[in-house]
Amino acid sequence: MAAATPVKRVTVPAVRAMKAQQRIGMITAYDFPSAKVADAAGADIILVGDSLGMVVLGYPDTLSVTVDDMLHHTRAVARGVTRALVVGDMPYLSYHVSIEESVRNAGLFLQAGAQAVKVEGGKPSRIKTIEAMLDAEVPVMGHIGLTPQSVNALGGFMLQGKHAEDARRLIDEAKELERVGCFALVLECVPAELAAFITERIGIPTIGIGAGPRCDGQVLVFHDVLGMYDGHTPKFVRKYANIGGEMQDALSHYLADVRSGAFPNDAESFHGTSEEELRRLYGSREGTDGVVVAITKS
Ligand code: KIV
Repeated sequence: MAAATPVKRVTVPAVRAMKAQQRIGMITAYDFPSAKVADAAGADIILVGDSLGMVVLGYPDTLSVTVDDMLHHTRAVARGVTRALVVGDMPYLSYHVSIEESVRNAGLFLQAGAQAVKVEGGKPSRIKTIEAMLDAEVPVMGHIGLTPQSVNALGGFMLQGKHAEDARRLIDEAKELERVGCFALVLECVPAELAAFITERIGIPTIGIGAGPRCDGQVLVFHDVLGMYDGHTPKFVRKYANIGGEMQDALSHYLADVRSGAFPNDAESFHGTSEEELRRLYGSREGTDGVVVAITKS
């Protein structure tokens, strides 16, 4: 029997080289089964996003997600992936307090099985933090535009870079993130024209989410693509299935079968000592309606 060909793993340099060569397909995943499905479907990058706070843990935003939550889910995802590059999303407060703490936290993601981390924002203090992570051999994916961990400062989940001054700041941040050594850059919820402008002017791949078609790749949230999240769905999401509805239908069907007695049937049951033999060994007492109401040892 011929040995199975080993799967060629997507690496950080390979993602960087994909710019202008092929469009990059990225999707989030949060656990072993979702990671296996995303990997088998052919994702180039699997992001263990802190969006898990909303779609898996039921928080209204991503701010309550901790490093421990993220590491727990990163380990599960890493166990399910054989090909895609696994990127761990650094949660709120894990890279905001000090450079030393940020580098240590970033390293924990690599130890949990990620090959890179993602960090939101591109202001000068963030650039210094990212520089220190890179210096500690942690590859970093940048993320600008709508950065959900800044939801309170931004005043909501809304389009960024709409006006010239804001657009200029985002272009400068993108260039800085490239200069410092990020291997790719997420552009979230920015005008398509701005995303295209940035994509043409930096040498690292841009991955868009709500950023139009002219980015080097696209990312969406697993539960959004599959129709498994019934909270607010932004305009840029395309649902490719209604798995949430199908799951609910399947579970309703199962519960109806339990209540009607249709589940389990004989083929779904194990058989051993016959009832006659059990009665012979332990005896039986019949109720007035003929139903066995108790079995007593003879
Ligand atoms: O947490 C997340 O899922 C993300 C992506 C949507 C970019 O940051």
